[in-house]
Amino acid sequence: MKKVFMTWMTLCLTVVALACGSNDPEVDGVTSANEQNGEGNGSATGKRSLVIFFSRAGENWQVGNVERGNTAIMVDYIQEFADVDVFEIVPEVAYPSNYMECVNYVNDVEIPQNLRPAYKGDIENITDYDNIFIGGPIWCGQPPYIFRTFFEKHAGELTSKTVIPFGTHGGSGVGSYVSLVSEYYPTAVFLEQLGIAGVDIRKDSSKTIVAEWLKRIGLDKKSTNYDMEEQARQEIAQFLREWSAAMIAADTEALGRMMADDIVLTHITGQTQTKQEWLEEVAGGSMDYHEIENRDVNITLIDSLTADLSFTSVITATIWGSRGTWTLHNNMRLAKHNGRWIRVNREDASAVRSVRSATHADSAEYTLGGIRTTGNKGIVIRNNKKYISR
Ligand SMILES: Cc1cc2nc3c(=O)[nH]c(=O)nc-3n(C[C@H](O)[C@H](O)[C@H](O)COP(=O)(O)O)c2cc1C
Repeated sequence: MKKVFMTWMTLCLTVVALACGSNDPEVDGVTSANEQNGEGNGSATGKRSLVIFFSRAGENWQVGNVERGNTAIMVDYIQEFADVDVFEIVPEVAYPSNYMECVNYVNDVEIPQNLRPAYKGDIENITDYDNIFIGGPIWCGQPPYIFRTFFEKHAGELTSKTVIPFGTHGGSGVGSYVSLVSEYYPTAVFLEQLGIAGVDIRKDSSKTIVAEWLKRIGLDKKSTNYDMEEQARQEIAQFLREWSAAMIAADTEALGRMMADDIVLTHITGQTQTKQEWLEEVAGGSMDYHEIENRDVNITLIDSLTADLSFTSVITATIWGSRGTWTLHNNMRLAKHNGRWIRVNREDASAVRSVRSATHADSAEYTLGGIRTTGNKGIVIRNNKKYISR
């Protein structure tokens, strides 16, 4: 351990808050979820989690040349075992991929000049999340300065959030993430941190360590799934209430927002219509809904982004001048898009699922019920994992 410590001292002349060197995963120093809440596993259930990370590909300390940085691999594990969205901090100007060049740049330029490296894109809805994982490598005894850029851009947004520091290192540990986050967000509450030596991250044992850590802090899928399902059910039930209310109010703007653009609708007469055609009839009063009573509501979650909603509705309406009451059996396919459930055609919903195996580039191109996701700050799916698109 002493050797590792000396190496970093030599390489990085400015060493701030260098934790004691250890290649063992370090999990101490902060409160665990269970300890904090005084209850068992699952204490953080039903809440949304976000991972914010930075990782550098290229030549890596003791590892060699890698296409995916060490911390990025750790994030892959987190995504495998926890339900999280992910925002990757990607520098606008890439750091040197040569290891020594990078160390020299950070040591001689970035730190002494107190730089704030710019990053690509941004995430705008941090406040929607309850648990924020923050992680990356340790550079010269501290988190890279690009985190300072991020925190300064998001001043106040992590105030009183639950923060889970993590990362990979060459022996220094990741305790300095707690110090930096506390500096910017003094009231943040920390759960148990996890640091893994970069050189070990590709070992199966590290994957197990990540899985066990997530379980301990109550954020593994098993602990959170039930409530996430319950949350989706509540959101969909709310969708149905809003849908019916918007029909009665002839609120075509709300109805429009609740449907994909290319949806094909089957209305009371059995005739099919495009979204635009139906909305025009509603706006023009030729389809005028007076009363709607829904019963036998059944929600089947296909996955976290897709669901089938079936229900029976008794609708009193005036359709093309004739008033009547109809009992209808409805089956809607819903998909979650940019955090909102919307009606989609069945084939569009299956397209959403199929992008789970697509590449990032493919998924950036996909359309959901006619809505292109490219350029949105929505969630895209890459290799079975959810990413916030930039
Ligand atoms: C510029 C630079 C400085 C580093 N300084 C330290 C350090 O002070 N302490 C340490 O333990 N590791 C240090 N490392 C090693 C990295 O923290 C480690 O390799 C980490 O796993 C890299 O993660 P990444 O691949 O996700 O970027 C440094 C690496 C670089 C490139």
